[in-house]
Amino acid sequence: MKREFNIAVIAGDGIGPEITDAAIRVLKKVGEKYGCKFNFTDVFAGGCAIDKYGEPLPKASVDACLAADSVLLGAVGGPKWDTLPGHLRPERALLGVREAMGLYANIRPARLMPELAAACPLKMASEGVGFDLVIVRELTGGMYYGERGRREGKYGIEAYDTECYGTGEIERIGRVAFEMARGRRRKLTSIDKANVLESSRLWREVMHRLAAEYPDVEYSDMLVDNAAMQLVRDPGQFDVIVTSNMFGDILSDEASQITGSIGMLPSASLGDGKRGLYEPIHGSAPDIAGTGKANPLATILSAAMMLRLSLDMPEAADDVERAVSEAIRAGLRTADIAAGGPSIGCFEMASAVVERI
Ligand code: IPM
Ligand code: MG
Repeated sequence: MKREFNIAVIAGDGIGPEITDAAIRVLKKVGEKYGCKFNFTDVFAGGCAIDKYGEPLPKASVDACLAADSVLLGAVGGPKWDTLPGHLRPERALLGVREAMGLYANIRPARLMPELAAACPLKMASEGVGFDLVIVRELTGGMYYGERGRREGKYGIEAYDTECYGTGEIERIGRVAFEMARGRRRKLTSIDKANVLESSRLWREVMHRLAAEYPDVEYSDMLVDNAAMQLVRDPGQFDVIVTSNMFGDILSDEASQITGSIGMLPSASLGDGKRGLYEPIHGSAPDIAGTGKANPLATILSAAMMLRLSLDMPEAADDVERAVSEAIRAGLRTADIAAGGPSIGCFEMASAVVERI
């Protein structure tokens, strides 16, 4: 078994540095306990890279990510860079690194933690009904990577973006989702807009072909507008969701919000190999950056996903997740999940997790 891992760390902007520091402290503790070594390399991407190098994703940063066993990312972006042209915005760094690393599968779990049910905006939570779902979002295709441009049109200058998916692209994300469903409650919902979009009709055809290969998984299709509604009406009906890049972007924000604790949700982006990119679902929260108030748990749980999915350390992953649950159960809260009650800071929360590993 491998005992030394090289982790590229894109701390990024806003609260990024604080929350990645917290996750690094946790990984160091894991290293001590499980007898392995993590080497961390700082990588510049996003707004801080624009400030330092004049571009959101310098080639050296891409190379560092490609050379690592895995990548830990805090968050990128902030109001300071919001007025830059599209190709120079911090968000380009995310799209660029996903593409360069071939990370076509974005795994976004959304689970209602019983201890935090009070923060859930849905009535069902107060009635004791929970949910535990995973969104598998296609991450390197569709409209976010399609042909785009501007041209002269009937109403003046017009702009266009195109949604295009190939059979192989749909099949590989479909397989990730079917396999994921197999490891969970064996239920998969594919979300599309097949009543309107040709790309969705192909998506559905391919998913149906795959469904025949996975008879043990209960498969269904759902239109995206209905899915947006079902997610707030009865999220407990979902186990695994698979969908396109854009629909997944939108629905995963909705899913994270209904947990009431977006500061707790990790994510993984994977390709064909073992290497992945792990980041919290939330953004760079410029309003609280530098105040020490950020919730590091989503980033710490992202590190746990890295241990499980990329570094073959499932026990250590369980250990970190248990430590987080215990800290929550002990009543420790950062301000975002404290519902107005007493709270601790980012550093203290990380210490509470480290102590429990
Ligand atoms: C996300 C973000 C990004 C995306 C943006 C910042 C490019 O919204 O990770 O969901 O759309 O993928
Ligand atoms: Mg998003």
